[in-house]
Amino acid sequence: MPERLAEMLLDLWTPLIILWITLPPCIYMAPMNQSQVLMSGSPLELNRLSEEQRILNRSKRGWVWNQMFVLEEFSGPEPILVGRLHTDLDPGSKKIKYILSGDGAGTIFQINDITGDIHAIKRLDREEKAEYTLTAQAVDWETNKPLEPPSEFIIKVQDINDNAPEFLNGPYHATVPEMSILGTSVTNVTATDADDPVYGNSAKLVYSILEGQPYFSIEPETAIIKTALPNMDREAKEEYLVVIQAKDMGGHSGGLSGTTTLTVTLTDVNDNPPKFAQSLYHFSVPEDVVLGTAIGRVKANDQDIGENAQSSYDIIDGDGTALFEITSDAQAQDGIIRLRKPLDFETKKSYTLKVEAANVHIDPRFSGRGPFKDTTTVKIVVEDADEPPVFSSPTYLLEVHENAALNSVIGQVTARDPDITSSPIRFSIDRHTDLERQFNINADDGKITLATPLDRELSVWHNITIIATEIRNHSQISRVPVAIKVLDVNDNAPEFASEYEAFLCENGKPGQVIQTVSAMDKDDPKNGHYFLYSLLPEMVNNPNFTIKKNEDNSLSILAKHNGFNRQKQEVYLLPIIISDSGNPPLSSTSTLTIRVCGCSSDGVVQSCNVEAYVLPIGLSMGALIAILACIILLLVIVVLFVTLRRHKNEPLIIKDDEDVRENIIRYDDEGGGEEDTEAFDIATLQNPDGINGFLPPLLSLVLMVMHRTS
Ligand SMILES: *[C@@H]1O[C@H](CO)[C@@H](O)[C@H](O)[C@H]1NC(C)=O
Ligand SMILES: *[C@@H]1O[C@H](CO)[C@@H](O)[C@H](O)[C@H]1NC(C)=O
Repeated sequence: MPERLAEMLLDLWTPLIILWITLPPCIYMAPMNQSQVLMSGSPLELNRLSEEQRILNRSKRGWVWNQMFVLEEFSGPEPILVGRLHTDLDPGSKKIKYILSGDGAGTIFQINDITGDIHAIKRLDREEKAEYTLTAQAVDWETNKPLEPPSEFIIKVQDINDNAPEFLNGPYHATVPEMSILGTSVTNVTATDADDPVYGNSAKLVYSILEGQPYFSIEPETAIIKTALPNMDREAKEEYLVVIQAKDMGGHSGGLSGTTTLTVTLTDVNDNPPKFAQSLYHFSVPEDVVLGTAIGRVKANDQDIGENAQSSYDIIDGDGTALFEITSDAQAQDGIIRLRKPLDFETKKSYTLKVEAANVHIDPRFSGRGPFKDTTTVKIVVEDADEPPVFSSPTYLLEVHENAALNSVIGQVTARDPDITSSPIRFSIDRHTDLERQFNINADDGKITLATPLDRELSVWHNITIIATEIRNHSQISRVPVAIKVLDVNDNAPEFASEYEAFLCENGKPGQVIQTVSAMDKDDPKNGHYFLYSLLPEMVNNPNFTIKKNEDNSLSILAKHNGFNRQKQEVYLLPIIISDSGNPPLSSTSTLTIRVCGCSSDGVVQSCNVEAYVLPIGLSMGALIAILACIILLLVIVVLFVTLRRHKNEPLIIKDDEDVRENIIRYDDEGGGEEDTEAFDIATLQNPDGINGFLPPLLSLVLMVMHRTS
């Protein structure tokens, strides 16, 4: 107590007013020990407070001269004395009166104006308002004149431990990996205490575990929760409930406390290997099962969870490693055995596989515990299935010469029933593939024979399908494609590749090539065609023409002399023998027609017609005049005819371009020479239908022209 007074006097020193803090009498303080804590405090607490005041005073010296303390939550029978104002001013004969104003003056704090005693007349709560700022003044009792300037001071509400610690964020959840070492930090929790943290121990918290030992511990000051046992096993117990207590007053008895719960979940680590439920699995599968079909599943159990339980499955040994495969199903965490290659009951009836499951995510900390894998044995029994016949080949290619004799055997297919109870097989031709019934097959031995003659030049390929049927079970059917190729035989003679017509110029020179011809042969010899050309034996010494074979298998015909004259001989016929290179060779005779023509000096054919050549010279002047006269006469008749038709209001029947074109062509074709008297038969003109049908070409043309111009 003397220390406190000394401290205060240092600070309270003001020239005008000295307020004497009268500590509340001890009789008000019950219980006694609590008042001691509050009023005198520990030396440390007091020093700290003084330090704070000194800092404040440095900036506001002269005003903050004091503070009073009043205990919160005090509820005695009398108002509690907070302190006393006193001035050392010599009052002389005057009586001094103390006046109080500011926070709570008169309502919370009451002053005895004579003695200067300040009482708290209400119960105070520090957590509600921790300090009050008031102003004190000494005045003349009579005149109310201030004897000195007003002075401000603070009444601090002193804390008592009236608030328990609280966990605001509880209840808590935390995780920690299983198998953690001792002292692994799990989480930390925090409680708050509303009491004054800087005064006394009312807010000084100490944490402890009420429930959850011996698994977890808590650091009393920091509230860090740690594992208290090493190697806790999730597979044994996964969840722990921890009850944590925070107690104020530094944990001493009499302090207030609050609790919360923390649920700790152990997370999984891979500390368990996979283990097959069975050391031997049996599966059976029909031999005709489709490739890729799942045959069976094997599963290695793993006490871990999630990816720590994941295993990859492998076939590591056995006599079926080539035929089977295993895939890992991550979802179901098992292995699926599938067929990779076809099975054959008749070849092998059972297989044994050694299957391994190995953890995918190994934790190196536990790899020393042994291999994180397991093996099992899988026995697969192949079941017999009734299978259709099997041909000796997936396809057949047969070749036959086109001149093969009817009923001759051109090939054979074979098939067998792969089943143990091998059934005999019958063969037939799928008639949809042999509509012409070109072939027959022997139902028992599969020999294919020729039913109708072949012609390679008609069809090279006969692609048919042969059906094999088991006699004991007609539903067991197989089909095989058989391609029959017809091979060439030299059964066609060569001939001219086209109908040639040769022209020979009257003014041509000896040795001139008149025409080049080539030959064709429907056959298709292996080494291609080679043709031989010759003149008929009796023509070998033909005085007029000769032949010359060209390198490209064609033939040139040459004139032997000049001076051919179409007046003398208009057309020559030259028979040529063409032979092929077959064995035996075939030959034929083709005749080339050579026409003698008049040509220009550079060898362009001008006219080959004997009459056309004669006509212009033979036509007299009189004949030409006669023709002209005829035309004029015709025109007159036509004009008359058309006029007549118009009077009758009958439309012309020629309507469209189609008819016009037809008529022009007819005119060109017939040409109506001077002897074509029928073309001028006027009788037809009198028939109205004549215009549409029988009108002579020339007249039609004239009509058309008129129709167009009108
Ligand atoms: C027949 O089969 C052969 C060989 O497979 C093939 O080359 C040919 O094009 C086929 N012919 C027809 C008409 O399908
Ligand atoms: C050769 O031509 C002459 C006339 O030009 C004819 O009389 C004769 O018969 C021809 N000879 C042959 C073999 O055609």
